[in-house]
Amino acid sequence: MVEARGSGRGKVILLGEHAVVHGEPAIAAGLSHEVEVRVRPDPHGASSVSNGLRAALEAAAKAVGVRDADGIAIEISGNLPIAVGLGSSAALSVALVRALSASVERSLSLEEAARLANEVEKVFHGTPSGIDANTAARGGLLWFETGPPMRWENVEAGGALSIVIVLSGEEHDTGHTVGALRRRVGASPPVYRPVFSAIGELVRAARTAIEKSEWRLLGELMSMNHELLRACGVSTKALDRVVDEARARGALGAKLTGAGGGGAAIALAAPGEAAQLAQSLRDGGWEAFPA
Ligand code: MEV
Repeated sequence: MVEARGSGRGKVILLGEHAVVHGEPAIAAGLSHEVEVRVRPDPHGASSVSNGLRAALEAAAKAVGVRDADGIAIEISGNLPIAVGLGSSAALSVALVRALSASVERSLSLEEAARLANEVEKVFHGTPSGIDANTAARGGLLWFETGPPMRWENVEAGGALSIVIVLSGEEHDTGHTVGALRRRVGASPPVYRPVFSAIGELVRAARTAIEKSEWRLLGELMSMNHELLRACGVSTKALDRVVDEARARGALGAKLTGAGGGGAAIALAAPGEAAQLAQSLRDGGWEAFPA
């Protein structure tokens, strides 16, 4: 084993989170924010790994075929906010499998990095659809279906999307939110099925809107998606306030992004106006930045 590094990108889900776990399509975008992992052989490596990280390291080592996870020291760095719905666990999983495979001089295709990272993601939240790991590995704008078979495609946007990320100020726990919704779905499948299928239709319409640069329509679809997620019980008062405020300050649409239950929201600005919208939200006391 040699010293090596690997990185994975953060992501926003533009539309379709949660419903994607239940078989509907979703659209996600990779961020330039990243997590970077450096690994090196170290007989006392175990002491550099926190308890929370140990299971992920062991899963990544197993996925990649590295035998002695205890003999590895890890350093994590990067500029991606953690535990706020921007895919930090998937970015970390991708960075880990890339760093470990590089350390045994094995190169991973995008396909393999996404597949192995999704195995590691299971440590963080039991039943990931695969959208976070795929976006963290591939970047770009992705159409994703969990399948089987799992399927992804690049979406060709008609123009640049002016997205603003807004942090609600609440941390969240993806595994908890996904698991709690799964239990509610299990108790009343006929109630939730049409809601997920409506979200699937929103995602299909949004793809066409993105391809044709129909930003006003895309904004409307994002706001509708938020209301359906809210109906499913995965929003919070703070996320609802962010969404209302972003729209009041000129966003074409806004919604929570990722698992919800806290975390982040995204707002769609008119073309070229993301910086202005982010500034207006910051003036209102929110942590907001264009993506
Ligand atoms: C989390 O970023 C997205 C969810 O749809 C879970 C998943 O797809 O694994 C909530």
